[in-house]
Amino acid sequence: MSVLNGKNILLGVTGGIAAYKAAFLVRLLVKKGANVKVVMTPSAKEFVTPLTLSTLSKNEVFSSFTNEENENAQWNNHVELSLWADLFLVAPATANTLSKMANGTSDNLLLACYLSAKCPVYYAPAMDLDMYKHPTTAATFEKLNSFGNIQIPAAFGELASGLIGQGRMAEPDEIVSFLENDILKKLPLRGKKFLITAGPTYEAIDPVRFIGNHSSGKMGFAIAEAAAMLGAEVILISGPTALKLENDFVKIIHVTSAAEMYEAAHEYFDHTDIAILSAAVADYRPSEVASEKIKKKDQALTLQLTKTKDILASLGEIKKKQFLVGFALETENEKENAKLKLKKKNLDLIVLNSLRDKGAGFKTDTNKITLITKDNKVLPFTVKSKKEVAKDILEYIIEHTNA
Ligand code: CTP
Repeated sequence: MSVLNGKNILLGVTGGIAAYKAAFLVRLLVKKGANVKVVMTPSAKEFVTPLTLSTLSKNEVFSSFTNEENENAQWNNHVELSLWADLFLVAPATANTLSKMANGTSDNLLLACYLSAKCPVYYAPAMDLDMYKHPTTAATFEKLNSFGNIQIPAAFGELASGLIGQGRMAEPDEIVSFLENDILKKLPLRGKKFLITAGPTYEAIDPVRFIGNHSSGKMGFAIAEAAAMLGAEVILISGPTALKLENDFVKIIHVTSAAEMYEAAHEYFDHTDIAILSAAVADYRPSEVASEKIKKKDQALTLQLTKTKDILASLGEIKKKQFLVGFALETENEKENAKLKLKKKNLDLIVLNSLRDKGAGFKTDTNKITLITKDNKVLPFTVKSKKEVAKDILEYIIEHTNA
């Protein structure tokens, strides 16, 4: 999956011959899973039609502050468009538009969007070689880059004038790779190794029966996906669940029992920077697993149970540089119990869920957490989707580790 998946991209198209390539660019971005809206300068419409770009982007294309053909038209809100965008890409970017961007001119909708943009702005210059080499253009690039805009270098090749030199807009696939690489290298968890446990464990009674619990795995999967989207390398050790990963940057290891989860967690822990143990691990397993299906006989059946190994506590004992996060699911004396667990298991952070809170727990899509830190800080959060909760936990980790 691309890092562009789900990103809102505002594509600014300006009036140069390379504008015809904007059609390919929109198609590639949409294929990567991005939501694309296009804003064009009036002269760009001479080179590629808004209809082509709106068909490919599946969104209305904007090119003026109002729609002149429709007298009831509303004002096209450049601020709204810019705030919608996770990134603004100007491609092709002509010398004229770049110079206006560098100097704060705002005489069309695209430029107004640029001035309102709070997101990263990328630009792919496209012009003839002498324009590209001109000292004014060099000064424009320097000025734009000093404002934090990101230049996607023009290529060397045959230009519309027939001359050969630098100034050709980078090809659409090169622009897309440039964006992906640039985003990846700036992700806050890039290079960090995560180990996450999720879901229930099943402890076999006989070949057809087990002791399990209602954990869906949703919380752990959400953390794994969110960490990967922030650039982390993620190993997700999951007990039996029906969930499918949306993110192919996560490596999943399927286990069934607490003992298998213990083995897998210890195999990877050494090379882990941050471990988050959200699995609902069985505390007890049947002492004996019957080799044949247990037949119905007496009125009562007694199963003898043996304690499983506490994976989290065992990692707490051997941890060196790792930042270790546990979960606590409580029904009473929540904070006190969670604080005790944090201490006893040698954790850096504990995520408390109370089953008394509405919207928290196993099967829901929402959760309500309280983070409790090693130095006894208690940070409550409101009910949120598990995806949002995952982001809150990771945000805390990013701020409080050297991640
Ligand atoms: N945990 C674990 N291995 C176990 C049991 C629990 O790794 N055998 C982890 C869970 O993944 C969670 C944390 O320990 O991160 C707390 O789990 P919880 O069930 O709330 O606490 P327990 O330590 O099992 O204590 P109790 O059931 O008595 O509340």
